[in-house]
Amino acid sequence: MTTYHFDFQPQAPIGLAARGTDLAGQLGNLNRRLEQERRERVAVQAQLQRLVKEVQTLRSERDQACRALDVAHEEALFCLARSAEQKDGEAGQHVRRIGVISAMIAEALGYPAEFCALISKAAQMHDIGKIGIHESILRKPGPLSTDEWRLMREHPRIGAGILSGARSPLLELAAEIALSHHEHYSGAGYPLGIAGDAIPLSGRIVALADFFDALTMDRCYRKARPDDEVLSMIRERRGQQFDPRVVDAFLRIADQIIVARDSINGIEAVCDLPDVHGDWWMLF
Ligand SMILES: [Fe+2]
Ligand SMILES: [Fe+2]
Repeated sequence: MTTYHFDFQPQAPIGLAARGTDLAGQLGNLNRRLEQERRERVAVQAQLQRLVKEVQTLRSERDQACRALDVAHEEALFCLARSAEQKDGEAGQHVRRIGVISAMIAEALGYPAEFCALISKAAQMHDIGKIGIHESILRKPGPLSTDEWRLMREHPRIGAGILSGARSPLLELAAEIALSHHEHYSGAGYPLGIAGDAIPLSGRIVALADFFDALTMDRCYRKARPDDEVLSMIRERRGQQFDPRVVDAFLRIADQIIVARDSINGIEAVCDLPDVHGDWWMLF
C-alpha cells in the first residue's frame, strides 16, 4: 500500500507573519521618518520665525537710524540757517518769527495743519544761502554796488543748492522756499523772474512774512518802521510784489501776527534778563 506523505508546510502563515513583521518594521521606520521630518519642520519654522523677528528688528533699527540721521541733518541745517541769520546782522529770532508768521498765513489761506507745520520749519531756512555771501555785503549800511547786488542776488540759488537733493519733504519745501522767496508776483523779482502762480505758494507766503518782519524789526544798520506804515506798504504792493490772496489772508490776521511776533520777542527779552537763570523757559 502506497502511503502518500504530504509534507505540507504552512508556508503561507509563516510568509504572512514575516511580511507582517516587515510591514511593521517599515511602518516603524516611516513613523520615525515622519517624526524626524516633523521635528525638522518645527525646527525650520522656529528658525524662520527667529529670522523674521531679526529682520523686523533690523528694519526697525534701520528706520530709527534713518530718522535720527534725518533729524541730525535737519538740525545741522537749522544751525546753518541761524549762522546765516547772525552773519546777516539779523537781531535775534528773525528765522523763528518767519516760521511762525508763514504758518499763520498758510492757516489763514485754509491749508491743512500738516502743511502749516511743515512750512513753519522750512521757512526758517529761507536765507540759508546768505552763508555764501560776504559779511561786508550783507551788513553794508548803504546801497549795494552793481557787483555787490549781483552777488547778493545769488543767495536764493546758493540756499537751494545747500538744501536740494534731500529726500525729506521738509528739506524739499525748504529748497523751494530758498529759491523762490525773492520772486515778485509781477515777475520783477529774482533769481528766475517768474510771475504769478508760477512762483511756488510757499515762496509767495514767505516773501510776505520776510518783508513784514524785516521792516518792522531793528537791524544793525537801521531802525524798525512802525507796523502801520509797513502794513500800508504791503497794501500798496498787493498784486505787484505780493500775491493778492496772500496779502488778503495776511491782513485778515495782521493783529494776531503782531501779537505772535511780540510774544516771540518777549521770550527773547526774558532770555536777556540778568536775574533770570537757566530755567527761564519754564515760565512759558
Ligand atoms: Fe533772502
Ligand atoms: Fe529773511
